[in-house]
Amino acid sequence: MTAGPATLVIFGASGDLAHRKLIPALYSLYVKQRLPQDLTIVGFAIDDFDDEGIRRSYREWIEAHGGGVDEQRWREFAGRIRYLRSGFEEDAGYGELKSILDQAGPGGCLCYLAVPPRFIVEVIRRLGESGITREDGGWRRVVVEKPFGHDLESARRLNRDIHAVLREDQIYRIDHYVAKETVQNLLVLRFANTIFEPLWNRNYVDHVQITLAEEVGVEHRGAFYDRVGVIRDIFQNHLMQLMAVVAMEPPAALEADALHNEKVKLLAAVRVMEPGEVERYALRGRYRGFREEPGVAPDSETATFAALKLYIDNWRWDGVPFYLRSGKKLARKVTEILVQFKRPPHLVFPGAGGFRARSNLLALCLQPDEGVHLRFEAKVPDTVAEMRPVDMEFRYAESFGESAIPDAYERLLLDAVAGDRSLFVRNDGIEIGWRLMDPVIEGFRLDAERRPCPVYEPGTWGPAEADELLGRDRRRWLYGCGERAGEACDTASHEAAAGQDQL
Ligand code: BG6
Repeated sequence: MTAGPATLVIFGASGDLAHRKLIPALYSLYVKQRLPQDLTIVGFAIDDFDDEGIRRSYREWIEAHGGGVDEQRWREFAGRIRYLRSGFEEDAGYGELKSILDQAGPGGCLCYLAVPPRFIVEVIRRLGESGITREDGGWRRVVVEKPFGHDLESARRLNRDIHAVLREDQIYRIDHYVAKETVQNLLVLRFANTIFEPLWNRNYVDHVQITLAEEVGVEHRGAFYDRVGVIRDIFQNHLMQLMAVVAMEPPAALEADALHNEKVKLLAAVRVMEPGEVERYALRGRYRGFREEPGVAPDSETATFAALKLYIDNWRWDGVPFYLRSGKKLARKVTEILVQFKRPPHLVFPGAGGFRARSNLLALCLQPDEGVHLRFEAKVPDTVAEMRPVDMEFRYAESFGESAIPDAYERLLLDAVAGDRSLFVRNDGIEIGWRLMDPVIEGFRLDAERRPCPVYEPGTWGPAEADELLGRDRRRWLYGCGERAGEACDTASHEAAAGQDQL
């Protein structure tokens, strides 16, 4: 996997991400015997822990959150963890880290920046100054978490500052959605099968819906979220990446640059909205109660829900709308991509009561209840020619077992240690996401000057206005996955119309 011993340094080791995602992922990899034999973990943070203290803190977190540990395995795993107490701006800490690495001898070092965004450049600059990023004794890589800038301008500046110390191929920018097992499977579905790709274009696809819905609100992140909002938090990164994977051309190889080139080419073909057009192509919403959340301004205009209609101006997708939506405090947690095919051009079946065939729907259920469903028409037995939609279903849990889907961080950590950047985001991928979303953010700001943000009730599918975005095109939001697959969604004020996909 990697030559020589490797050291994983977690900046921000005492924080939420390390406890919630990184250490559980590393422990799981250890149990599965996937961690490189000689990987050691150095936790770098200001909080008052020692080696034993941080190990205990991690273990307590895992146990308190339902993930048991095996006594023996945990002891072996925890033995690899040590703690370096230092602020991110203290030179002494970097000096100490350098001597730890020197003592370990030639080998790799992965620095994982689980730090607040304002420290990203600071930490990288000091890593450079202390000689840690020099590759004379082995590879040096840095993992950077989102948010990566807050607009195009700041993202460019950030890229420039980081490139002053590191080469692009040393930088691993995380978008954990890209590494979700079901998102990786999208590539396999599209490019390891022959039956989908011939239909995957404007000749057969009517439109695509991408939904990333969350049941939770902003939880303890009110102040952060109030500055960011749903477009920066979800659309600029996760939804742009999902759209790229579902719509891009086949890459020539499953190799980082080949994949990144295709994604960026696709996103570069997405039509950029003018801020003045936002009313036509986008809408925002705020859940009732958001302004009362801790840390949120009482007069906040931040959107916790948004829906967009985007077009991809290329040969394959010309004229096919991509409807994207995401929000907090929605009816349930679900991430799904629905590919709605066109209706048959001419129906030969003499349906009763003006019956019209429904379109075929391919539902890519990314989470939870992961799977793929294909809905098509079948003849109801013992009728002359009555039809009803039926589902052909693939479920991960049935095909691969309940525990088959690892957390995305397992893949990301392994790949970063192995030097595979395929599931990370290249600098131009980040910048193009901002180029597309900056005008939407500006359009929402202008809209907020004119009218109040539509408010939706927690537990619904967003503001009623979200229906109009599709209603104007004589379409509806659909459920593709879960119990109510194939139905139209209830929003705040609209009743479901079972079985109808178009008006
Ligand atoms: C993060 C966002 O990137 O993704 C959060 O900052 C969001 O607001 C989270 O809750 C959703 O991720 P997942 O994997 O739980 O769907």
